[in-house]
Amino acid sequence: MEEIIVGIDIGTTKVCTLIGKIDKNDQLQILGRGFTLFSGVKKGVIVDIEKTAEAIRASVEEAEGEANFKVNSAYVNIYGTHVNIINHKESTSVLSDNQVVTQEDIEKMLQSIERLPVSEGNRIIDIIPRQYIVDGFEGIMDPIGMSGLILEMEADVVTGKLTSVQNIIRSVEKAGLEVDGIITEAYATSELSLLPEEKEMGVILIDVGGGITDVSAFKNGRIIMYDSIPVGGEHVTNDIAIGLRISYSEADKLKKQYELALTTLIKNDQEISVYDVNEEKLKDVQVSRIIKIIEARVCEILSLAKKLVEKYENLDTFRAGVVLTGGGISYVNGNKQIAEDIFNLPVRVASYRSVPGAAKPEYAAAAGIIKHAAKRNMYSRISRETREMRIKDNHNGKGGNYFKRIAKAIYSWFSM
Ligand SMILES: Nc1ncnc2c1ncn2[C@@H]1O[C@H](COP(=O)(O)OP(=O)(O)OP(=O)(O)O)[C@@H](O)[C@H]1O
Ligand SMILES: [Mg+2]
Repeated sequence: MEEIIVGIDIGTTKVCTLIGKIDKNDQLQILGRGFTLFSGVKKGVIVDIEKTAEAIRASVEEAEGEANFKVNSAYVNIYGTHVNIINHKESTSVLSDNQVVTQEDIEKMLQSIERLPVSEGNRIIDIIPRQYIVDGFEGIMDPIGMSGLILEMEADVVTGKLTSVQNIIRSVEKAGLEVDGIITEAYATSELSLLPEEKEMGVILIDVGGGITDVSAFKNGRIIMYDSIPVGGEHVTNDIAIGLRISYSEADKLKKQYELALTTLIKNDQEISVYDVNEEKLKDVQVSRIIKIIEARVCEILSLAKKLVEKYENLDTFRAGVVLTGGGISYVNGNKQIAEDIFNLPVRVASYRSVPGAAKPEYAAAAGIIKHAAKRNMYSRISRETREMRIKDNHNGKGGNYFKRIAKAIYSWFSM
């Protein structure tokens, strides 16, 4: 039987839970969906554990109902300006006398990576081996049993703020679930929005959410940068509300009604009536004024994204161009033109047609978590500190299940 995996995306505007599995044809199948609007995250960081736990619970229950499956544990995402991915290379002399690589050699390297220095208040969250090199031979995915003197590992090392990781774990556990793993959003979203060929050729992924824009870039099949900007679709709404002196909800309604970000695409500009911020009197506003506000913010977000990428790499080297995703940008017409002008590269908006039942950008992170978790490299591991955090939290939380949970956790770390 295929393993059922649960992915939870704790976003700025919603908690999305998907229950799914990868079928025999390597396709992601969604069995249950839960979607709860909430606001317990600011700039990518959980600021209200109670509220977040409640929203997790509600969205998990909804997904459980649809899938007819009881959820006990889930993978969850992490993102935001505090998250960094470092490309690291570790090497070791092969330990055994007969120079055959064993699990012990890999373990030794993982442990030294776990001891890498990180900046104050940060922790290593996740270690994802990309390839092994045995005596100079590259591209090895599983080196165990191979003969060699020197074993090298190239790995993505994810670091993030300790308090943020703790808040994620606490929120999920407060909702009555165990944390299977914490997955960086760029890995999750890119699973479904990018093609392997694009990752090979060089591509930039821009995920404009509600409060955060995640920017990642891939080349030669691997992630080469990940960064984020604390601006998203909610800022567009805010700008409309402030610019027109109308309520936030009225502004959100207008944004979703027009789904437009380019004044040049307006077919018939006209005056419309909107309620003033005090909701007492109606006033007339030109549609082009609303679209101008949206255009300015969308241009700003994409220009900031461009600057971020340029810090790491020359834009011309991204031959597959730019892919846009996230609810904050996917729905606004003109998005592609604006991005093409700013980046001077080919642009497309990600499509999720291959995920029946969850073919929308708002589901992409949760769906991608399931796909990423299912294919995690067998030696990937959640860092020691994060594991210990889970143990501590489990211990403080639910004493009764403690030993059972530890046993399960230990099993899953070694089988990861
Ligand atoms: N039809 C639409 N037109 C314009 N904007 C939309 C539309 N539907 C959703 N949005 C915007 O998409 C944003 C939410 O997108 P998404 O679900 O990707 O964000 P999130 O995951 O909650 O946030 P983040 O990733 O920043 O934590 C909101 O700002 C919302 O207003
Ligand atoms: Mg998001």
